[in-house]
Amino acid sequence: MKVMELSKDLYYVGVVDHALKVFDVAILTKYGTSYNSYLLKTKDGVVVFEGSKEKTEKEYLEHIASLTDFKDIKYLFVTHTEPDHSGAIKALLEKNPDITIVASQGALINLDHILRHDFKKHVAREGEVLEFGGYHFRFVSGIMLHWPDVMFTYIEEKKALVSCDAFGCHYAFDDILLSKLTDEEGYIDAFRYYYEKIMGPFPSYAKKAAEKVLALDLDFVLTGHGPVLDCRIKERASEYLTIGEKFFPSVVKGQVTIVYGSAYGYTRDLAKTIAEALSKAGKTVKLYEIDALNYADLKPEILTSIYKSEMTLLGSPTIAGDAIGLFYDFLCALPSTVGTGRKASAFGDYGWSGEAVPNLTVRLKQLHFNVLEGFKANFALDEAGKKAFEGYISTLLG
Ligand SMILES: Cc1cc2nc3c(=O)[nH]c(=O)nc-3n(C[C@H](O)[C@H](O)[C@H](O)COP(=O)(O)O)c2cc1C
Ligand SMILES: [Fe+2]
Ligand SMILES: [Fe+2]
Repeated sequence: MKVMELSKDLYYVGVVDHALKVFDVAILTKYGTSYNSYLLKTKDGVVVFEGSKEKTEKEYLEHIASLTDFKDIKYLFVTHTEPDHSGAIKALLEKNPDITIVASQGALINLDHILRHDFKKHVAREGEVLEFGGYHFRFVSGIMLHWPDVMFTYIEEKKALVSCDAFGCHYAFDDILLSKLTDEEGYIDAFRYYYEKIMGPFPSYAKKAAEKVLALDLDFVLTGHGPVLDCRIKERASEYLTIGEKFFPSVVKGQVTIVYGSAYGYTRDLAKTIAEALSKAGKTVKLYEIDALNYADLKPEILTSIYKSEMTLLGSPTIAGDAIGLFYDFLCALPSTVGTGRKASAFGDYGWSGEAVPNLTVRLKQLHFNVLEGFKANFALDEAGKKAFEGYISTLLG
């Protein structure tokens, strides 16, 4: 891959990796990826946008060196400091320690911790404009897309937004420009998968950023991975307004999800009694009984139902000192922010030690649910147990 001029004096200097199969431990990259960076020649010196991964620093530096002497680089704009974009910055600063790094306050703190030596800094604040070499670089916050440090740069004279991970995807493409891409199906698949895995936990931030981007006059979105958007910018950015709803639906008023498992029927009885009481009180109850055979088929529906529910209730007997393992599978498939603004509680039957309820309660708290105290039953309920159970149901209704 050689460098490419995108517009007069503005170059693509990124590195395309067709071979990558896995990114960030858990993300499959079946279309490979690219680590995109850009270089702008101005009358007063050179500006570079984004670093690269440490593994690709050799090619990154070669691409830059094919266009400029390192000593002529005045600024490096860093949109986001995850090491797939910051890993090669150390090598660039070794070539020219006088480069000033322009980034958000949060990103500069991260870079202090990544580089562990002094460097020249310029804090990029939302709405501010840095003027250099006849260009106006305006900062637009992209906070939580997908780190708290994200600050986009809008290059006014180029009508270009440097957006790093936002609006990008893991898709290796040697022709770089979206307008040259013919594999529409693969690209859209990669774009949506990327959103789901990377931006998905923060749909409201993605929406806010998309609104800001849609208000800009744009010829280019200079992404951090995958094709550069030189066309269809409104279409791609608009998808961030709605796609969150597909993967992470908002709460439906009155909906409650109850997921339970039961070996001998005790926990099932509790679940059914709770469901009946909540239905009577006007709630829309989604009731799922899971077991080792049906779980895989039910899992996607359970996840969607939890997103849509004001309250999630988990009913598990204690088996070998814990809740049924299947519960942890879907609880680990939910983003850690899922419980914000939603209630949850655990209930279940036990024989002698009863760990299921306290253990599920811990996990629900980790997911930031507003967790109501759980309910444990020891085999069949006695009169006192029945009373306590009525009290538990009242709390759920309250
Ligand atoms: C394989 C197995 C392991 C169990 N392990 C525990 C345990 O570690 N602690 C406990 O309190 N009860 C344990 N129990 C007892 C159950 O929690 C108890 O029978 C409960 O009433 C089952 O509720 P269910 O009818 O909803 O399945 C175990 C039961 C089985 C079948
Ligand atoms: Fe990232
Ligand atoms: Fe990235």
